[in-house]
Amino acid sequence: MNIPDIIIAIDGYSSTGKSSFAKIIANEFSFQYLDSGALYRGVTLFAIENGFISDDCTIDVQGLDAAMESLDLHFGQEGTYIGERCIEKEIRSLEVAGKVSPIATVAEVRDFVDRKLREFGKRKRVVMDGRDIGTTVFPDAELKIFMTADPMIRAHRRAAEMEAKGVKADLQEVLANLQERDRIDSTREVSPLTQAPDAIVLDNSHMTIEDQMEWIKGVISERFGC
Ligand code: DC
Repeated sequence: MNIPDIIIAIDGYSSTGKSSFAKIIANEFSFQYLDSGALYRGVTLFAIENGFISDDCTIDVQGLDAAMESLDLHFGQEGTYIGERCIEKEIRSLEVAGKVSPIATVAEVRDFVDRKLREFGKRKRVVMDGRDIGTTVFPDAELKIFMTADPMIRAHRRAAEMEAKGVKADLQEVLANLQERDRIDSTREVSPLTQAPDAIVLDNSHMTIEDQMEWIKGVISERFGC
């Protein structure tokens, strides 16, 4: 399939399979995949390690904002990096997952991440997943998808994903964590998780990844005539 130089924005709830879907799309269409959540997780790890967020999630916004000026957070060969250090495993831990939503409510953090994402998006032919890609980061994205799925199905998927990476997972804890993140993500003041009016909804509760690929190929061929 020969598709034009576009930006594909995939937004939706936690653990709806946005990143797996986005990666396969990137592979199939030779697009670059960008995981915006990984940048929020990277800032969260940085905040934890440097004492800008406490156990009860109180955030030293001023301190964090100043420190981000020299934070070299980027994507590389093995995923997400701070400088030379690959942080891909650490950013998937439950500790980071439990603190990332409060961190993502901070306007200064969102500015920092948005600037990086827009820089990457200039090249087009990117598929980016997150919460506000189609609404805030790239409101002009040519194709916007909003993903949703049943919470219990999402919890099972996330637990399996964590265990595959060697991180211990308790299903009830994972479910509670993702419902709490949905709540914070959807109700925060800055760039809440909302469906863009021109986004197409994909509920993949009972769809395989192959079903989802069939679906998106249909959408693309209809929209772009290819
Ligand atoms: O997709 P994820 O679970 O890796 O995202 C981690 C967190 O980052 C999620 O709780 C909300 C936040 N996030 C966001 O606020 N905006 C984005 N574009 C992407 C992620």
